[in-house]
Amino acid sequence: MKINEFIQSQLEALKNKGTLIAACSGGIDSTTSAYLANEAVGTRVHAFVIDDGLRREQEPEEAEQLLRKLGIKTEILRKQERFLTALQGLTDPEEKRKKFRKVFYSVLKDVLVKHKTTHLLQGTIKADIDETKGNEKERIKTQHNVLQQIGVDYGFQVVEPLKDLYKNQVRDVARALGLPSRISERMPFPGPGLAIRIVGAVTPEKVEVVRQAHVIVESTLREKHPFQVFPVLLNDKATGILKGKRAYGNIIAIRCVESEDARTAKPTEIAIGTLKNLAERICEQLPTVTRVVYDVTPKPPGTIEFE
Ligand code: XMP
Repeated sequence: MKINEFIQSQLEALKNKGTLIAACSGGIDSTTSAYLANEAVGTRVHAFVIDDGLRREQEPEEAEQLLRKLGIKTEILRKQERFLTALQGLTDPEEKRKKFRKVFYSVLKDVLVKHKTTHLLQGTIKADIDETKGNEKERIKTQHNVLQQIGVDYGFQVVEPLKDLYKNQVRDVARALGLPSRISERMPFPGPGLAIRIVGAVTPEKVEVVRQAHVIVESTLREKHPFQVFPVLLNDKATGILKGKRAYGNIIAIRCVESEDARTAKPTEIAIGTLKNLAERICEQLPTVTRVVYDVTPKPPGTIEFE
């Protein structure tokens, strides 16, 4: 793919669109697509960062700041209650994804109605579409932002400039557009956020544990292991010792993988000393955690996410 030709053709195609509401998480895909559209149609792009209560520490605020810095009109929508209430009690990962998607699009529907437009700009990429393909049984998982392929009609005209690209190609586009490296080299983070970094039911307490674990894991491993690294809060408890007494604490699994395009992935070989230090930091800073494990499963047969 010739990057500059791709960019020119997308700028041309986007020019004819009316007002575009951009759903932006601050990740590479949605930011790159919003930036492209903003270059093409300028003030007719209005980005919304949905704070669903499932983002990492300060993520909505940082996304808003960055998008504004890039010249894109941006607002945060605070909708934590709506998402967390809807997810209450759901334990099946597919059910969680579908519920998340339903609330996500109903929030966006309200925005589109308010702004009198039907054009929704999304950062959907080819891998999202590939994995959501097929019928209910064949499908690997329901990516939150894939609409047409599963025949759900919210009455939007979806605009997806990156839908034929894989992650590595999106990075090339972001670099060619001159986006800052914290976008072009950004680690992928799933649309349903921390909801799928918690195995089983999502509660505000669990969200906080996994959010804090993210801070520790990313600050320790991210620089050296650039593709994807994250913690997952498991559904089980394990015996441990807290303040000298037996306690059934939380289990955190660390996932760190190397990949080109997220279609396949290899677990990273991390030195045991690094993992031991990480486990100590997590248990020290998160007193409900009594056990930390490292996931060594490749994709396939695993997926990158652990849900
Ligand atoms: P899996 O777990 O399918 O993940 O091997 C492949 C890549 O996709 C990311 N991912 C998502 N990204 N919405 C997204 O925007 C989603 O629903 C979603 N689910 C997984 C995952 O983090 C990995 O990089």
